[in-house]
Parts: sequence; structure tokens; C-alpha cells
Amino acid sequence: MPVITFANSKGGSGKTTSSLLLACALAQNTATAIVDADPRKPLASWKKKSLDNGTFPKNLTVVSDISEDNITKTIEGLAEANTFVAVDLEGLASRMMSFAISRSDYIIVPCKEQQQDVEAALDVLKKLGQDFDMLGRRIPFALLFTMTKYVKSRSSRAIIEQLKNSPINVFRTEITERDPFSQIFMRGGTIYDLDKKVVTNIDKAIEEVDAFTLEVVDRLKQARQAAA
Ligand SMILES: Nc1ncnc2c1ncn2[C@@H]1O[C@H](COP(=O)(O)OP(=O)(O)OP(=O)(O)O)[C@@H](O)[C@H]1O
Ligand SMILES: [Mg+2]
Repeated sequence: MPVITFANSKGGSGKTTSSLLLACALAQNTATAIVDADPRKPLASWKKKSLDNGTFPKNLTVVSDISEDNITKTIEGLAEANTFVAVDLEGLASRMMSFAISRSDYIIVPCKEQQQDVEAALDVLKKLGQDFDMLGRRIPFALLFTMTKYVKSRSSRAIIEQLKNSPINVFRTEITERDPFSQIFMRGGTIYDLDKKVVTNIDKAIEEVDAFTLEVVDRLKQARQAAA
């Protein structure tokens, strides 16, 4: 079943947050796994908090302790047992990234709406091209703007417009900078478990994640049709 890898060697671009949001949204309806391929294991610590307070999603599997030696077999095993698999890579260029990519059906490159971040993301896209040459096949990919501001500066608007009008594939959906998206890492659990009395704008956050999830599923369908 489809494997969706979140890759960007620039640290702090929103990989862990956006991969967990997607995995928890998919896990509401179907068996979903997330591979915590970051040696700092941010998702293992999220899982512990979630189990401790009883908010760990029942359809979700989180696998940490990933190395170059076990990443491809782990992804393959999870892809057999789950409807969807998300892979969260560390913020470093590593061989793990190439290994994960070799088992992926779609690659999402999360990126902030800042000039330096966009330049770094373009380098990642170049590196992906080299990986595809080595693999002998191309894997569909798209850039996802993350941590975007609700009220955008003129420069952010220009950066986004420029990319959306370029040949680079960019998600229509953006992941806005929102309190619910950072709260889940502090408290454990998902945006669906947050208390509306304590955290604001949960409905908007859920709406955005729903739109993102639908777009991912739609892109996977299109990629499968294009390959057929
Ligand atoms: N949409 C968002 N809204 C609010 N906070 C966010 C959002 N996305 C990310 N953050 C916060 O920004 C920081 C970096 O995000 P995240 O850990 O998802 O990035 P990353 O690409 O996985 O980083 P690394 O490269 O270190 O693995 C975290 O503190 C996270 O809580
Ligand atoms: Mg991360």
C-alpha cells in the first residue's frame, strides 16, 4: 500500500509535524503506519505521551529505532500490513533518505515560505533527481508549504506565487502555523483529541488537515493512473 515519505535535509521544515498530521488523519479510517526515521525519535516520544494519556490512535502503528540496515525492510513490512505508510526522515542529507525514497510511492518536501528555505528545498529536489537517476525510475513528488502565516507578508506571497506558477509541483493545501499543530507534541494525542476550551481554532486546524489528506490521496491516485 502507498508509502509517502517526508523529506527535506533542512532542519525544522515541518516534516515531523506534517507527517504525523497526515498519519493521524488517515488512521481515523484505516490502518496506517508512520516510520520515525529520525535518530532523535520525535515520534517515539509523541507515542509515549499519547499512550500515557490514553490518546494513542487505535489504527496507528509507530515504528522507531530505524537505521540504514533496517529501513527498507521495515517500510516493506509495514506497507504490506497497512493501507498507508508515512515516513518521517531526519533533517540531514543521509543515505537513509535514499533508502526510504527507493521504497516510496510519493515524496512530500515540506518547506517554509521563506526565501532561504525555498532555496534549500530546491537543492533537495535536485538531490531527488540524482536518486531517481540511480534508481532508474522517477517517483512523483511535490513541495508542501508549512508553517505558513495566515496573514502573509508581501515577500511570502511573492515566493509562493512564483513557485506555484513554476514547473515545480506544489501542494494547493498549505499547513498553516497553528497552535493545535504544536500542542499535539506537547500533550500527545491528535488534533481530534484537543480540548476546545484549552486550545483555540481546532476546527480550522482539522479542516486544513482534511484538505491536505484529501489532496495526498488524490495525488496518489493520479500517480497510480499515470504509471498504469
Ligand atoms: N504548522 C505548524 N504550526 C505550528 N508549529 C509548527 C508547525 N509545523 C512545525 N511546527 C513546529 O516547528 C518546529 C519544527 O517542526 P518539525 O519538527 O515538524 O520540523 P522537522 O522538519 O521535522 O524538523 P527536523 O528537521 O529537526 O526533523 C517544531 O517545534 C514544531 O512543533
Ligand atoms: Mg523531524
